Amino acid sequence: MVRNRTIVLVGKGRLGKALANSLRGHAHLRTTGGRVLAQHPKRLTQTSCTWILAVRDGALDGLVRAIAPVLVPGDVVLHLAGALGPEVLRPAQHSKASIGSFHPNFAVAENHPSAQVRLTGFLFEGDRAALSEARRIAKLTGSRVAVATHVDRARYHGAAALMATGAVALAQGATALFSTAFTPPPNEAWIRAATSSLLASVASNVARVGAFNALASPLMRDDTDTVARHLNAMNTTPEARALYKAALAVVLETLETHKTVRPETIQTARTLLQT
Ligand SMILES: NC(=O)c1ccc[n+]([C@@H]2O[C@H](COP(=O)([O-])OP(=O)(O)OC[C@H]3O[C@@H](n4cnc5c(N)ncnc54)[C@H](OP(=O)(O)O)[C@@H]3O)[C@@H](O)[C@H]2O)c1
Repeated sequence: MVRNRTIVLVGKGRLGKALANSLRGHAHLRTTGGRVLAQHPKRLTQTSCTWILAVRDGALDGLVRAIAPVLVPGDVVLHLAGALGPEVLRPAQHSKASIGSFHPNFAVAENHPSAQVRLTGFLFEGDRAALSEARRIAKLTGSRVAVATHVDRARYHGAAALMATGAVALAQGATALFSTAFTPPPNEAWIRAATSSLLASVASNVARVGAFNALASPLMRDDTDTVARHLNAMNTTPEARALYKAALAVVLETLETHKTVRPETIQTARTLLQT
């Protein structure tokens, strides 16, 4: 693949803008709106190029059918939807383009002008020529690529959603508890700083040692009294309590497997889960 071939990023939504910000200055980049291109399909460069379709999942089929007539051999067409494989891009393959599903495990929550996609794990599934471009683009964002030949999309995308949505749910639960835990009550800025620093420090631990070794819990000191007090204090916040218990159940499995705490600790904690 030519190192400086043009990347045409289609879609000015959350991920499209963030990916464009990461690639700008590092690649020969053109951007265009998704709906505009679907209605008026045209090439943005006369030489073969790499199209990244950053549009909502439901719009991919219509968009790829619309641009198929303007594709040329040597073009690469990638989409970013984790829930969909490369099949949705078949019309592009019929136009002799290479295709690939190229999903970043990265959450962009808002259409923020300076958001960037950085240091993530992309999953690629598709043609060899498309893989070469996927690798080049991932490298430009400091990211890694895993290459799959078969993907259980529901399981894979479920994992990404568990992480992205679950972490937000945990932050919401902690926010509810922090805001009623002391007087005078904390302001919004303090709560954001406290919850985000906890998330960021956990993220850094996971990056360094992996999810199973990143655990920090009173149970690791065989302290079940503290866990009992936590659960008791959460009686008035049932959603936070349900999250806490779900997390505790998973953590107990890990602790039991690794045999790092006393068996009585596990037993007492399991009893607490029934409360
Ligand atoms: N946001 C994330 O955290 C995230 C993470 C990983 C993967 N993804 C994937 O990235 C893709 C884009 O997601 P997003 O979060 O950026 O969505 P988004 O913010 O809702 O933006 C989607 C864009 O789709 C385009 N669009 C809507 N209807 C269209 C149509 N009928 N024809 C052509 N284009 C149309 C629009 O582009 P224009 O405004 O330019 O017309 C819109 O801005 C999706 O496949 C999603 O699954 C998102």
